[in-house]
Amino acid sequence: MTTVVTAATAATGRTAGKLVVGNWKLHGSLAGNQALLGALIASPVLSAKGVHAAVCVPFPYLAQCQQVLAGQVLAYGAQDVSAETKGAFTGEVAAPMIAEFGAAYAIVGHSERRTYHAESDATVAAKTLRVLDAGMTPIVCVGETLAERESGDTNAVVTRQLNAVLDALTAELAARIVVAYEPVWAIGTGRTATSAQAQEVHAHLRALLRAKGEAVAAVHVLYGGSVKPDNAVELFSMPDVDGGLIGGAALKAEDFLAICEAGLPR
Ligand code: PGA
Repeated sequence: MTTVVTAATAATGRTAGKLVVGNWKLHGSLAGNQALLGALIASPVLSAKGVHAAVCVPFPYLAQCQQVLAGQVLAYGAQDVSAETKGAFTGEVAAPMIAEFGAAYAIVGHSERRTYHAESDATVAAKTLRVLDAGMTPIVCVGETLAERESGDTNAVVTRQLNAVLDALTAELAARIVVAYEPVWAIGTGRTATSAQAQEVHAHLRALLRAKGEAVAAVHVLYGGSVKPDNAVELFSMPDVDGGLIGGAALKAEDFLAICEAGLPR
């Protein structure tokens, strides 16, 4: 395994505190990022004990993160990774390339990738392995659509999605992942799962993780889907919600910091 010098190392295990990860999606510019990252690292919230934060940025901005976040506690990562490591795969970006820029995380299997790029469970499992092989932490996303929830298939869908990944990993590797439960109907819609709905699915995911071993059960399970400063405290108070994957609200320093603050031990 490659040893990677990261700007901030990935949080290891839920006992280390909540983990709040911004997913910038297709947003950003060099100047805008400079202002946003500058505001984040100037805040005392991120150095507080008991909360870890990271931002997952478009590939071209990894170099900027490496520069701006050197020596800072704010970690960073990518939003996707190739299932291949090298070769004739035009347009792909391999995990070791991302790791070279000091990234600690890479999101895999986000519902926007599954939907718009037809990523299968097998592809998501392969990508997870590539991220682990490169010494980074994969943030494995799972979640049901509204139709699947309404037909009572939520648990079956997230079980299929998570087990496809767990089956491809040894228990040792599985203990190094982060899981994000993101109900598709809650992403970017302003419609959040209630804390009870989130907890129910998180407890189910925890049981699947536990079936792979106690160390695996200790990984962070994040909730994502319209997390905002005004609902973060309630969501994070659930026993199996170990933090959040934040889209829209991660683009405003004030909102992202307020969500990180909601992750502080209380
Ligand atoms: P949202 O996105 O917070 O804008 O709903 C979350 C995500 O897609 O990761």
